[in-house]
Amino acid sequence: MKQPVEGFSKLTKDQKIDWLSKAYFANPGKAVTIFKKYWNDDEKLQKLHDEFIENTITNYYLPLGIAPNFLINEKLYTIPMAIEESSVVAAAGKAAKFWSKRGGFRAEVIATEKIGQVHFIYKGRPDTLRDYFEHIKPKLLSDTASLSENMEKRGGGINKIELRDKTDELKDYYQLHCTFETLDAMGANFINSCLEQFAKTFKDGALEYTAFSEEEKQIQVVMSILSNYVPDCRVRAEVSCKIVELNEDHMPPQEFADKFVRAVEIARIEPYRAVTHNKGVMNGIDAVVLATGNDFRAVEAGIHAYASKDGRYTSLTRASIEGDTFRLEIEIPLALGTVGGLTSLHPLVKLSLEMLGNPSAPELMQIVAVAGLAQNFAAIRSLVTTGIQKGHMKMHLLNILNQLHATEEEKEHFVHYFKDKTATHRSVTEAFYKLREKA
Ligand code: MEV
Repeated sequence: MKQPVEGFSKLTKDQKIDWLSKAYFANPGKAVTIFKKYWNDDEKLQKLHDEFIENTITNYYLPLGIAPNFLINEKLYTIPMAIEESSVVAAAGKAAKFWSKRGGFRAEVIATEKIGQVHFIYKGRPDTLRDYFEHIKPKLLSDTASLSENMEKRGGGINKIELRDKTDELKDYYQLHCTFETLDAMGANFINSCLEQFAKTFKDGALEYTAFSEEEKQIQVVMSILSNYVPDCRVRAEVSCKIVELNEDHMPPQEFADKFVRAVEIARIEPYRAVTHNKGVMNGIDAVVLATGNDFRAVEAGIHAYASKDGRYTSLTRASIEGDTFRLEIEIPLALGTVGGLTSLHPLVKLSLEMLGNPSAPELMQIVAVAGLAQNFAAIRSLVTTGIQKGHMKMHLLNILNQLHATEEEKEHFVHYFKDKTATHRSVTEAFYKLREKA
């Protein structure tokens, strides 16, 4: 049985790789070579990446692709996408081109409010707590003045602090429910620093509040943390066109529009389908969120919570036909930053943002929502016409050929060969070995 390793974080990078390779790999030498192959020759750049996290041993590459021709609110963008799934970038590019000829995407930010909470336990009279809250509120704000000064100068800061009684759901449980405007920053550090100060001021102040009994003075702060559920930091995007303009799919436009709307309706009422439908949306969203150095886990958690806000998990997009017009829209919460964090550290993130014209956070919200909508359009379009495998397998073909260590000539041969055939893993492998046997 393996023994726990002591003092691991103090080892050098080489020592960590050495330990790991000997402990876990049949061929330690080969493992070391592969780990090191991914190191960057530029030592400064490598150090930057090493220091993003603890115990870095190497870099994990994801392709950074681009999807040009995104017309959003009359402005043309080339969107950076970091993603490993073949066909996502191609689908985005196709959807972008399709809609650029039909008026493009329209997007608007509905609200930009972020949320954080101090969760605490108070055993006592609710009215006295409410009085205390009103009494301490000015001090909550004055004690965080130095933290919020810069944000306020730029027009943001702490919007509101509310006391919420949650004792119906959990004994003695209350919250300071706080809202913030963090402008172009995602705001996690700002929000969490403010919350921790609120918690301290609130707890310390209670000890001196004379209207409290001795027990009431003992407020227990459980935790202070921002919420990744941001329903009031929300963006909307849509595309629409005349049904007759849906004329590129070897299917009569009206039939295409009807089938498309039906497919989205299914995702609205059927959670099994909704999850997959939204996964397609997230293909676009995560890829841009990642390329622009934002926190895709936060975005995922918040968006899926929003998809279940009415008590059942449902589609993030809606499709409709009104008269002769087809419309597809999305509305999602998104907490993004274009300053601070990785955005000012990672050279590729900086280039991704520059590629987008160094957008403000609200502009980036619109771009990301559009990337999600485009991806959904592309997925449903394939699903209701040719089926998803045709496009998928075309991109997957190269992955299979790479797995088989095909040469460049062989790849060229098979791309041509599978143009009019279905490229499954089996059919590609069989055709590949047949060709090699002949050679
Ligand atoms: C695959 O990554 C995404 C899709 O499954 C999305 C969908 O079914 O709508 C194609």
